[in-house]
Amino acid sequence: MLRFDIISIFPEFFRETVDYGIVRRARAAGLVEITAHDLRRWTSDKHHVVDDRPFGGGDGMVLKPEPLFAGVEALTGKARREDFAQDTRVVLLSPQGRVFSQAVAQELAENSTQIVLLCGRYEGVDERVSDALVTDELSIGDYVLSGGETAAMVMIDAVVRLLPGALGSDTSAVFESFSEGLLDYPHYTRPPEFRGMKVPDVLLSGNHAEIERWRKDAARRKTQRNRPDLLK
Ligand code: ADE
Repeated sequence: MLRFDIISIFPEFFRETVDYGIVRRARAAGLVEITAHDLRRWTSDKHHVVDDRPFGGGDGMVLKPEPLFAGVEALTGKARREDFAQDTRVVLLSPQGRVFSQAVAQELAENSTQIVLLCGRYEGVDERVSDALVTDELSIGDYVLSGGETAAMVMIDAVVRLLPGALGSDTSAVFESFSEGLLDYPHYTRPPEFRGMKVPDVLLSGNHAEIERWRKDAARRKTQRNRPDLLK
């Protein structure tokens, strides 16, 4: 059982987004538990302030360290990276992170029992959070989102579907995009001809060796066209 604890100022964002498709089924099957917590719960002032102005000046507000440290301590029993159990990860979603990938998703799915996701907001998060609390600072790509919530949901989805039993069959995740360093091969279904566009003959041939060869080749061509960087 893997447990996700999300710390966010918009916990309601996750209420419905974790309730669809494979993530919903994995929760129902007891493979994963996902709980969204309100960061304001770990403030101690009357107005539940979670942000403040940046030292050194500049635009925007910065998430204060105290509520994030208190939240992680409440959820893990520890408040320093060195003290976490091996299988506990504290992830900060931020555009300054290491880039999240299928390999990172695989590693998290295999080696964690608790993942605490810290969703950044405003202009940033006090750097002492990254320095002392976070085990993995992750970005989902080279663009800036208005907050870590959507990124957290991307990560949850990518990790949950890799948990044993989450997909219909155990092999479904083995031959998909990225798992072999290439994009997935093209898929077709009926009808065999649609608006003048034909399904490649080989796929209708029943010759499985030929089909296998065509798929490998088509995957390579697609990768060459859309993601030449993957071919090195
Ligand atoms: N927060 C803002 N932008 C982000 C990104 N690209 N990845 C993760 N968290 C973010």
